[in-house]
Amino acid sequence: MKISVVGAGYVGLAFSSVLADLGHLVYVVRKDKKKNEALKKGKTHFYDPGLEELVEKDLASGKLIPTTSYEEAIPNSEVIFICVGTPSKTNGDIDLSQVFEAAEEIGKNLKTGYTVVAVKSTVLPGTTARVGRILEKKKKKSAHFSLGFCPEFLREGSAIEDTRRPDRVVIGASDKKAIGILKTIHRDFKAPFLLTGITAAEMIKYAANNYLALRIVFANQIADLCEKSGADINEVLKGIGLDKRIGLHYWYPGLGYAGSCFPKDVAALAAYADKVGLKKSIFRKMHELNLRRPEEILKRLEKEFGSFSGKTIGILGLACKKGTDDIRKSAALKFIEILKEKKAEIMAYDPLAMENTRRLYPEINYGRNGYEAAKGADILLILTDTEEFARMDFKKVKKLMKGNFIFDSRNILDKNKVESLNFIYKGVGR
Ligand SMILES: NC(=O)c1ccc[n+]([C@@H]2O[C@H](COP(=O)([O-])OP(=O)(O)OC[C@H]3O[C@@H](n4cnc5c(N)ncnc54)[C@H](O)[C@@H]3O)[C@@H](O)[C@H]2O)c1
Repeated sequence: MKISVVGAGYVGLAFSSVLADLGHLVYVVRKDKKKNEALKKGKTHFYDPGLEELVEKDLASGKLIPTTSYEEAIPNSEVIFICVGTPSKTNGDIDLSQVFEAAEEIGKNLKTGYTVVAVKSTVLPGTTARVGRILEKKKKKSAHFSLGFCPEFLREGSAIEDTRRPDRVVIGASDKKAIGILKTIHRDFKAPFLLTGITAAEMIKYAANNYLALRIVFANQIADLCEKSGADINEVLKGIGLDKRIGLHYWYPGLGYAGSCFPKDVAALAAYADKVGLKKSIFRKMHELNLRRPEEILKRLEKEFGSFSGKTIGILGLACKKGTDDIRKSAALKFIEILKEKKAEIMAYDPLAMENTRRLYPEINYGRNGYEAAKGADILLILTDTEEFARMDFKKVKKLMKGNFIFDSRNILDKNKVESLNFIYKGVGR
């Protein structure tokens, strides 16, 4: 099939390269000319495992066509997916301007005949219908379209794998013809289909992300209670997770949820709940609790370790999670902000996210590895569960550090082992 994917971020690029690999001819449309030229040469503007290799393969086969021209891509496509960003406005509301701008350009360029236009960006209920109204207004009379909404559930750090093998494919579409075409495209993903109304599909994506975020907020609150009571959060989570109704998966006590999705999706659902009159929603509370989490943890650490002012702080982990160079809403950024105010000296390291962080904070120091970040540190803060950090030789770390405090925000270290090396160890909820 001939397909256009509008937006070349994590979702658009992963989706278009997987579709091209499956043999479709895929135009991936973006606005940024410089990034487009780089993509034509196989360079992606972010890291995700296997992505560049797949893009290179697709470019060589001629199945992936990066372009900034809607005029080139849209009239040549049977199906168009909108994968542009839906960030938060400063008040937490969802900013849908990229979606509507893309819809205008798609509408103007729809070919004579029939096209399916499906939204894949995460959007609030009713947005796909608004996209339909824009297309209707902009298109020529001889152009006809069906609308669809197919939420994306990939995780950064495993975008290609998750795109190829999702747990389910949710398809909301305006008619049977569109459902058939969208099913054909997704058939190779070998995942169960769930066919729903468009509004239900839009809500499924928000409900899924908000539920996952809720598990993180819940795990953090139970972890706090564990610290007060002397219980160990790892034992507690295992104990509750063995209940089949709950499950052992996706319990992440730590610094709260971060990244480009959960914070904005919880904020957007909270704002939506306010707007439709659901007063005092759980989403608003989750948003507030999560927002405060890194600062609260830092305050607790200062109580235990003493003031951070003038101290040398080693930071391991800058990305919003392991396996990605994405630093959007990363807890490390909040830590850096607060530590800078306290005039602490920072030496940071992350295997993937250092360049992105350096662009925001050129004034702090960066180590070439975990040991360099630990050298001379009074306190070492481990902020992501990157395996490389757990594998470090802590005997060596002890010799390199000036102090002996370790904060392990994701409980990746063996507490007893580390304490036996005369570290003062602090995890979360243990
Ligand atoms: N990142 C994830 O893990 C993830 C997972 C599932 C769903 N989502 C959702 O998918 C959507 C995209 O997320 P992302 O992480 O890929 O975003 P992103 O910010 O990485 O990428 C969005 C891309 O769209 C481009 N763009 C903006 N306006 C455009 C226009 N008018 N025409 C062409 N391109 C345009 C931007 O330049 C950017 O490259 C969001 O709604 C997000 O919530 C993201």
